[in-house]
Amino acid sequence: MLNWFPGHMNAARRKIREAMPKVDLVIEVLDARIPFSSENPLVAELRGDRRCIQILNKEDLADPAVTAEWLAHLQTRDGLVAMTHQQHQPKLNQRLLRQVRTLVPPKSGRPIAAMIIGIPNVGKSTLINALSGRSIAKTGNKPAVTRQQQRVAIGTDLVLWDTPGFLWPRLEPRVCGYRLAATGAISDRVVEAVDIAEFAGGFLLKRYAERVLTHYGLTETPDGPAAALEAIGLRRGYLRKGGVVDLERAANALLKDLGAGTLGRISLETPADCLRK
Ligand code: G4P
Repeated sequence: MLNWFPGHMNAARRKIREAMPKVDLVIEVLDARIPFSSENPLVAELRGDRRCIQILNKEDLADPAVTAEWLAHLQTRDGLVAMTHQQHQPKLNQRLLRQVRTLVPPKSGRPIAAMIIGIPNVGKSTLINALSGRSIAKTGNKPAVTRQQQRVAIGTDLVLWDTPGFLWPRLEPRVCGYRLAATGAISDRVVEAVDIAEFAGGFLLKRYAERVLTHYGLTETPDGPAAALEAIGLRRGYLRKGGVVDLERAANALLKDLGAGTLGRISLETPADCLRK
């Protein structure tokens, strides 16, 4: 997992570095459930002293109390404005566009250039489509697909630059890789579903145990992540020949429920988890 496509990362970094001199503002799209793990450690270096809006996207899936903690933390950083976002909320698109136009005063002769950066599957294409009101960028679950750079005009005064290639997420410490996998940023072809689900199950039992018990109809708190998958599989009747629980099926069910928000709004990291010395 830790050696995930370094070649792509270098190519993306080079292209972004080349494009940056023409960019006025960076919009970094983070996943509200994992603002630390989905932040690209290179963006601060690449953007230099350009202003940056960090969007905590997919707010609808994240725990509101934890998102409030993240917003408070991110707002303390220099040169950054943090705001929440989610799809299907036209008012939030307008709020974002107002923020862009406030941060970058209009220059005579050319529109504002805002570069959209973010890890795979975080919602960049969905955002570009929503802001432009057109279906320009391709959306969907395709974490490892490199895309061509494209520029999308918003009115006459703003152009969004889609990121060339995709960006390296934070894979260290190791737990960040698991959080990325649990939220769909790293393809399940790269990491085993059971492995990710055991990570997610262990976390859920610590922070959101009641929801797991209620959702899967479990009467007792399982004794650890492996027992949780076993219990979910049993309860759902996911059995192989001989009555053995199909752990992979149970893992996929748990990950699907987590990703779809069926277990409620869940954040996988708090500022205290990530910023502890
Ligand atoms: P990317 O360009 O950064 O790779 O991401 P993209 O926009 O393709 O979005 C990845 C997935 O995340 C899509 O779902 C999209 O619908 C979903 N998504 C985007 N924004 C939000 C949001 O604010 N909230 C929630 N809950 N989901 C969001 P998909 O199922 O993979 O694809 P599709 O079937 O919707 O096309």
